[in-house]
Amino acid sequence: TSNRMWGGRFAAGPDAIMEAINASIGFDQRLAREDIEGSRAHAAMLAATGIISGSDADAIREGLLTVLSEIEGGDFPFSAALEDIHMNVEARLRDLIGEPAGRLHTARSRNDQVALDFRMWVRAQCDALDEALVALLRALLAQAEAGTDWVMPGFTHLQTAQPVTWGHHMLAYVEMFARDRARFADARKRMNLSPLGAAALAGTSFPIDRQMTAEALGFDGPSANSLDAVADRDFALEFLAAASITAMHLSRFAEELVIWSSAQFRFVTLSDRFSTGSSIMPQKKNPDAAELIRAKIGRILGANIALMTVMKGLPLTYSKDMQEDKEPVFDAADALMLALAAMTGMVGDMTANQGALRAAAASGFSTATDLADWLVRVLGLPFREAHHITGRLVALAEAKGCDLPDLTLEQMKSIHDGITESVYDVLTVEASVASRTSYGGTAPVRVREQIARWKEQLA
Ligand code: ARG
Repeated sequence: TSNRMWGGRFAAGPDAIMEAINASIGFDQRLAREDIEGSRAHAAMLAATGIISGSDADAIREGLLTVLSEIEGGDFPFSAALEDIHMNVEARLRDLIGEPAGRLHTARSRNDQVALDFRMWVRAQCDALDEALVALLRALLAQAEAGTDWVMPGFTHLQTAQPVTWGHHMLAYVEMFARDRARFADARKRMNLSPLGAAALAGTSFPIDRQMTAEALGFDGPSANSLDAVADRDFALEFLAAASITAMHLSRFAEELVIWSSAQFRFVTLSDRFSTGSSIMPQKKNPDAAELIRAKIGRILGANIALMTVMKGLPLTYSKDMQEDKEPVFDAADALMLALAAMTGMVGDMTANQGALRAAAASGFSTATDLADWLVRVLGLPFREAHHITGRLVALAEAKGCDLPDLTLEQMKSIHDGITESVYDVLTVEASVASRTSYGGTAPVRVREQIARWKEQLA
């Protein structure tokens, strides 16, 4: 038998394989709430504009609430023959209220309907992710406060570069995740125009009020071009792009935690709550949560690329290809939410090991730049020459198997006889970080200012 929603011109129903490839109900049932909210607003508008009667609209709006509670109750008989969430909801509405249900789809198409539902779903994710990012920012800030001036090695190329502070390092991630928040907020602003009323693609001859539905559904207004409204999936792509960047940041931090928690580094101790053991090696405590967070970028960026690839080359306006837009977004959103929650838990629970951080900071000639700067400042040498002399001092220390502060003044003088006792003042890691007071620098005095700024911003 042919489809009651669109089967008028069909003599035969679809092949089972056709039904299987066509149906989206397996995944788009996640849009049930948005679909019903959108339909309720649409029905109210149809009545307000006199397109359907007030009593029909009331019956539709009431009936839709029943459908929603059935779906949320978990015993809704979703049907693949009804393809998607839109037709499953409408068919059930018809069972419940009869004839008025058939008036709901006036001046509307599944094309603007799905564009609306999906936009609302992605918009809600932007809000949920914002909250999750704030929770992570707070956890990072607490870490920054706990060890504001603890000295640790700063790295480039993962080689010891210059001493920095734990607070400064934590705040680097605060900056990144705060930008991620801004990216979601920015995407949200752009996506917040309602496609409802674009109908199939060209608009409608019914005297609809798109402003009214837009307002009822929390949009800033209706979208201005009906073709664009049903063809656009930029909003989902922007969401995935922002999600990919966030996941990339999480991945970098997770990688640091994996390295830092190793026996060779011991910079941090991860809590038992966010670690796992080995089934063969009894001594093991593995940073699995960090590793899984590190990996999530794979599926999230994969989703971004998948949807971009689906959309490229599609002629305006709607093509069924676009039904493939949802699963990657659902999966990426779920993965990112979980990764953020795991990272927040892990950061909240972890303990930085001040002693190990300091010992690592003091090794690897980390204050060589401070020595070179001293030669410039005190002896008036050109920086290039100071750099060269310091390099020779490093080579000397390396040959002696010691660090820079362990060289005697005599040994120093053998490389440059202008060097005096006061050079040792700049060779400690504490002096090194305290001296970097330029704006944005690692000096504890600067870091404290930044912590105060972020605390105010997140209050
Ligand atoms: N299930 C469809 C989707 O997700 C809904 C829109 C169908 N529109 C159509 N003209 N067949 O994209």
